[in-house]
Amino acid sequence: MTICVKNLNFFYGSSQALFDINISADDSDTVVLLGPSGAGKSTLIRTLNLLEMPTSGELDIVNNKFDLAQPIDAGKIRRLRQDVGMVFQQYNLWPHFTVLENLLEAPMKILGTDKQSAQAQAMELLSRLRLEEYADRFPLQLSGGQQQRVAIARALMMKPKVLLFDEPTAALDPEITAQIVSIIQELQQTGITQVIVTHEVGVARKVATKVVYMEQGHIVETGDANCFDNPQTEQFKQYLSHSE
Ligand SMILES: Nc1ncnc2c1ncn2[C@@H]1O[C@H](COP(=O)(O)OP(=O)(O)OP(=O)(O)O)[C@@H](O)[C@H]1O
Ligand SMILES: [Mg+2]
Repeated sequence: MTICVKNLNFFYGSSQALFDINISADDSDTVVLLGPSGAGKSTLIRTLNLLEMPTSGELDIVNNKFDLAQPIDAGKIRRLRQDVGMVFQQYNLWPHFTVLENLLEAPMKILGTDKQSAQAQAMELLSRLRLEEYADRFPLQLSGGQQQRVAIARALMMKPKVLLFDEPTAALDPEITAQIVSIIQELQQTGITQVIVTHEVGVARKVATKVVYMEQGHIVETGDANCFDNPQTEQFKQYLSHSE
């Protein structure tokens, strides 16, 4: 198992936002998290690289193992985050760095990659994502879809085993959404495990190997891609009927 989450609970202050969450995924799986606004999807995806710290449960991602009820060592969190990349809803690129500099920063600083090889790797990724002509631009000189692809390229520079996406196609037009979907499908072929939060059932259907449907901090239904056509719970059935 690449990802194994057991009995995870999370609180914002005194308010519980995640209840007894269990999830697992293998290499090449794409897990799609669905659910209404406020269900806890962003919170859950952020716990997977410990941007949010659960109060109890177990997390095992690419052999980074945590007993979440115990105090956690900062070095272990850093090692987890080297294996687990994240692409945020608001692309979070560094505005004062060019596209290329955005890509070089983490591998050079954190992995100690030398500039020449980091640059070669960056140019290869930029061309794979059809961005090579934008290498010297600043993020604000790019469209939303281009910024989103740069954010994906930046995450891939760290050669993550797991990639987390929170609403990667929010606010993108259909053509750019289709590009992001095909990037996700290409990454699937490389064996990377992806976890994707989306509101777009159409996107979910195209990429999911596993589906997790949540409401109010609880997992209501999990299944494989077949559950879009055969939802097992009334709640997920209702959600799908409102979304398509
Ligand atoms: N920083 C925070 N402090 C306190 N409560 C929060 C915080 N962030 C989120 N919450 C609450 O936790 C719950 C889950 O929020 P979360 O952002 O994970 O939902 P979501 O499923 O991602 O929703 P959306 O689809 O709108 O993005 C909500 O009730 C929200 O109000
Ligand atoms: Mg969210």
